[in-house]
Amino acid sequence: RTVYVNGVFCPETEAVVSIFDRGFLFADGVYEVTGVLDGKLIDFSGHMARLRRSLAELELREPAQEDKLLSIHRQLVEKNDLVEGMIYMQVTRGAADRDFLFPADDTKPSLVLFTQSASLRDKPAAKTGLRVVTVPDLRWARRDIKTVQLLYPSMAKMEAKRRGVDDAWMVEDGCVTEGSSNNAYIVDAGGTLITRPLNHAILHGITRKAVLRLAAESGLAVEERPFTVEEAKVAREAFITSASSFVLPVVEIDGTTIGDGRPGEIATRLREIYIDEAL
Ligand code: PDD
Repeated sequence: RTVYVNGVFCPETEAVVSIFDRGFLFADGVYEVTGVLDGKLIDFSGHMARLRRSLAELELREPAQEDKLLSIHRQLVEKNDLVEGMIYMQVTRGAADRDFLFPADDTKPSLVLFTQSASLRDKPAAKTGLRVVTVPDLRWARRDIKTVQLLYPSMAKMEAKRRGVDDAWMVEDGCVTEGSSNNAYIVDAGGTLITRPLNHAILHGITRKAVLRLAAESGLAVEERPFTVEEAKVAREAFITSASSFVLPVVEIDGTTIGDGRPGEIATRLREIYIDEAL
């Protein structure tokens, strides 16, 4: 694979980042994952808008202008013949002597990108649905910033695996915040789509934004409010969204079957129209 590191494209085995990089020592960095379908980037400008917001919240410098970042993304797709999968981009505060204080302003941010080939369109889970368990949300309180501190979500996903299911839904004050790496939704008995509102409690998903727009365009009632685990268990449908999973149905929560245990109609339809629009 060809990767990009601080201004150069090189084989992944030759890419080097300093051990003093603050991403490595402090998780002092942010990232984006952009989906690629038929060699095309999905909602690139949305991901860049969120990146700028994450950078600003952490007083991190922008590593390059959007057109330059777009060109790097496109070149990586081409160099790796990427047809379907993801591009990962990470910006950290760069290398500086270890100190809790941010280094001087002239420290150069590190910029790293790589591709991951994956089947996004034909996912078995789209037909079978995902099973999830709930875990307490023990992350920090600024989940709206897409930082590289992913240890707790990683532990949550390991816990899900240990319990024999696909993913974990994180819970705070009795309500679901989000999945380990995706936004969470339910459809209630009356057919209303419910998902958490945008604030510091969750990541402002780029796929979430697109899917809520598609839902509204399809005439679905949408309510942005927290929902409890109990509500989720008696919901007609449940699903998740992310750049790498698009829309995937959830058919079981903590051992309770959702609906009839098969992927819901609304989740399935939203997945189809999301993919149609991305193509
Ligand atoms: N994760 N919530 C969390 C905690 C996430 O990590 C993600 C994305 C999302 C969905 O956001 P978007 O629709 O913009 O992908 C929600 C990415 C895919 C990842 O870490 O791999």
